[in-house]
Amino acid sequence: MKQLFLNVLLGVTLMVSGQQKSQIYLDVTKPIEDRVENALSLMTTEEKVALCHAQSKFSSKGVARLGIPDVWSSDGSHGVSDEKLWSEWNSAQWTNDSCTAFPALTALAATFNPEIAFLFGKSIGEEARHREKAILLAPGVNIYRSPLDGRNFEYMGEDPYLASRMVVPYIHGVQSNGVAACVKHFALNNQEIWRGIINVNVSDRALHEIYLPAFKAAVQEGNVWSIMGAYNQYKGEFCCHNDLLLNKILKQDWKFDGVVVSDWGGTHSTDQAVNNGLDLEMGTYTNGLTTEGHFPFSSYYLADPFLKGLKDGKYDMAKLDDKARRILRLIFRTTMSANRPFGRFVSPEHSQAARKIAQEAIVLLKNEKNILPIAVGKYQKIAVIGENANRSMIVGGGSTSLKAAYEVSPLQGIQDKYGKDCVVYSMGYASGPSLYGREEPSKLNADSLLNAAVELAKTADVVFFVGGLNKNYFQDCEGGDRKSLSLPFGEDKLIESIQKVNKNVVVVLLSGNAVDMPWLSKIPAVVQAWYLGSEAGNAIVDIISGDVNPSGKLPFTFPKKLTDIGAHAFDKLCYPGDSVNVYYKEDILVGYRWLDTKKIEPLFPFGCGLSYTTFAYSKPSVDATELKSNGTVKISFTMTNTGKVDGHETAQLYVSKSKSIIARAAKELKAFKKTFLKAGESKIITIEVPVSSLAYFNEAKQAWEVESGIYSLLLGSSSRDIKGKVDVKINSLYISNN
Ligand code: GLC
Repeated sequence: MKQLFLNVLLGVTLMVSGQQKSQIYLDVTKPIEDRVENALSLMTTEEKVALCHAQSKFSSKGVARLGIPDVWSSDGSHGVSDEKLWSEWNSAQWTNDSCTAFPALTALAATFNPEIAFLFGKSIGEEARHREKAILLAPGVNIYRSPLDGRNFEYMGEDPYLASRMVVPYIHGVQSNGVAACVKHFALNNQEIWRGIINVNVSDRALHEIYLPAFKAAVQEGNVWSIMGAYNQYKGEFCCHNDLLLNKILKQDWKFDGVVVSDWGGTHSTDQAVNNGLDLEMGTYTNGLTTEGHFPFSSYYLADPFLKGLKDGKYDMAKLDDKARRILRLIFRTTMSANRPFGRFVSPEHSQAARKIAQEAIVLLKNEKNILPIAVGKYQKIAVIGENANRSMIVGGGSTSLKAAYEVSPLQGIQDKYGKDCVVYSMGYASGPSLYGREEPSKLNADSLLNAAVELAKTADVVFFVGGLNKNYFQDCEGGDRKSLSLPFGEDKLIESIQKVNKNVVVVLLSGNAVDMPWLSKIPAVVQAWYLGSEAGNAIVDIISGDVNPSGKLPFTFPKKLTDIGAHAFDKLCYPGDSVNVYYKEDILVGYRWLDTKKIEPLFPFGCGLSYTTFAYSKPSVDATELKSNGTVKISFTMTNTGKVDGHETAQLYVSKSKSIIARAAKELKAFKKTFLKAGESKIITIEVPVSSLAYFNEAKQAWEVESGIYSLLLGSSSRDIKGKVDVKINSLYISNN
């Protein structure tokens, strides 16, 4: 009897322990790594392989048998896209997925405000959470190398430090909702022409000093849970399975423990996908956003071919386990996490957030004779001219196209603010329909549109011209690049014609890229108003009416001509390449780094932006003029709002070094701080710069190194408006190589 009792007790114990053992992955109180190992130990090889590739356009398998949910993802950087059909790009036409459209990421970068970046990430993450997504395919942080890149509007500008400071809080915000951010496109996706094949040739210094920093910050400070490989090649290997980028730099050096997701259609080889760091294959054979290669999911490179290779002993099971672990880790951090919030969708808070981000993003570029702000009631007749005043800026542009719950146009915002009865509108110019892959001119008569607009302008007290680019192909749109720096659709001629009959013209540009302005000297006010999403019209009128004081700063240079930009100062091989290779001949001199070093005058410099008030900077001082290896430079100064209006100002700190052993840019942004000052108020501001951030990438040592010697700290309100300078001496030191 006793033995029987002992056997039963043992059996129960084993069953309970066995049961407990087999259930650890379901126990949300257990450490994630224990849950990962437990789940992995219970899965078959087939189930592990199934984790590693798509089962639909935007989902991949979990393990239904174990109650592990599928992994659903959705675009994009400034709004959660509507649900798509199971295996197509087309909308599923749901009626509950119209989102809040937030400003595009160039607008976010223009705020120069990391707190705004967190607000942005938290808000869009709440919408992704509500839509039951495990991964939000955002943010994009590819460096703005050429003003022709069709996707610059999705990214955070030309400076790696600015992009690094803005991407981290965005990721923290998204992931605070139990949704994985997916920083993209890793790496060197800086043009859309031949994006799916072009092989990028770039120096190690430029790679590490310009193109990788935002991704490195996303991983090491943002703790991003997933990253998307880029379509292009680097060193002859596709970035979605690139040994150097993914295995060496990302996973070994940066210690990335998340999931490498391919771009949709970016996977080209089972051997390379297995061995070169890809974890999750999505969208294979979709041929970009247009046609559908109805390619069975079981035939994906990481599907049956991978399974067969494992069974034949061609592929190491450890490679599969590493991929599966990373995907399980993402699942346990998101859909199966203990304290996952519930999200929120199209809430008043999200509208307020979208409006606040937009307000802080708008850049006042020119304001002669203080034509702005325009108080309500100042004018009896306001003419609004331009297609962009009344055209959706949210639809089109490629994978970031949104089905938004609402979109306040600039015209609507102006009418709401100043009163419909004193606002008249004329289209002025017309672009073609928003198509993908090609451009179709408008069928409307350009001359009659222009003449009607000029007639209206003649009778108005003030004209708001609302133009710029749009989301049409060859404009700010994925898959293609712009053909020139000029405004399209005859806008230059229209602006010239308007200002001939009315000198009181405010030009409002909606774009994600720099544009040429041949009419600038004749126009008293210019506002860069980005793509601002659902609250665009409200935010624009908040600024032009003076309800909000503009504080945005340019995250990229507006050049006087295209060849003033490094990427366009050489030959076709430098941009866009010869369809096989492209060579980044400007090297580290991207954006203002090129113009400042070559002493070229920009139309509007990086970091510039006016206010309705003025700010004075005192002479800066440092707490020490000689620093040791792990020191931090502390620079202090007094900033005073010397005007009559409260406002924000972003002080920028650039560093330069003469007499250097290596080629250097004339200056590089190393810190910035945005401060609110009431009219007449003064504040002592301290900006800190770790000595380690002054390092350059030593190609011979393949490591970061700080050169000893004198460095000049340049305090400015833009890269060209330097208010003060102070020198410090740095002792040489050797820093880490990751
Ligand atoms: C697109 C884009 C990528 C997007 C993905 C899914 O082609 O390159 O940014 O997230 O495919 O739409």
